[in-house]
Amino acid sequence: MRNVTLTDIFQHPSAQKYLNRSGLVHAIATAYHAFSLAKDFGVDPDLATKAALLHDIGHYTWYTNGQWDYSLYKENDIHAIKGAERAHKLLIQLGEDPRKAKEIALAILLHTDSYLPKGQLDLLPLQRVVALADEADEEPGGMHHYRSLDIKTALSRIKKLDRLVDAQYETENLKHSV
Ligand SMILES: [Fe+2]
Repeated sequence: MRNVTLTDIFQHPSAQKYLNRSGLVHAIATAYHAFSLAKDFGVDPDLATKAALLHDIGHYTWYTNGQWDYSLYKENDIHAIKGAERAHKLLIQLGEDPRKAKEIALAILLHTDSYLPKGQLDLLPLQRVVALADEADEEPGGMHHYRSLDIKTALSRIKKLDRLVDAQYETENLKHSV
């Protein structure tokens, strides 16, 4: 059983604030991609969907003369660091298992290497799933952060994904008990 659902996370005030800032549609699409990829990689879908939903909550908005400035963002961005920390705090507040909260935070920290020194990271399967899920929904120039949808539709998509994760858990439990 999961003691924190995607719906719990989605309804948390801090998630509402930061998910909207970095693009709700992108967050939800990434979570769905992560669900499918988790199956392929044999990764826990609960961890994968939570990390994917929250992966961009560390975003700032960078402006020059009132206009959002992509190159300024690229230069100063630490959203993966900030997001990992925010996600960890939010999950612990909701009562998430601290080991799970740590794994999710690490997957968020490593979902992009654009802010890191050059070199090859040896990602764990969960971290790879979240990075791939993000890439699967990216658009040039960061435009994937600007698609919008209403809160009711967003909530129903989140609830549907919760049901998919629960169903996956049930299937796996059945497999183990046979
Ligand atoms: Fe992203």
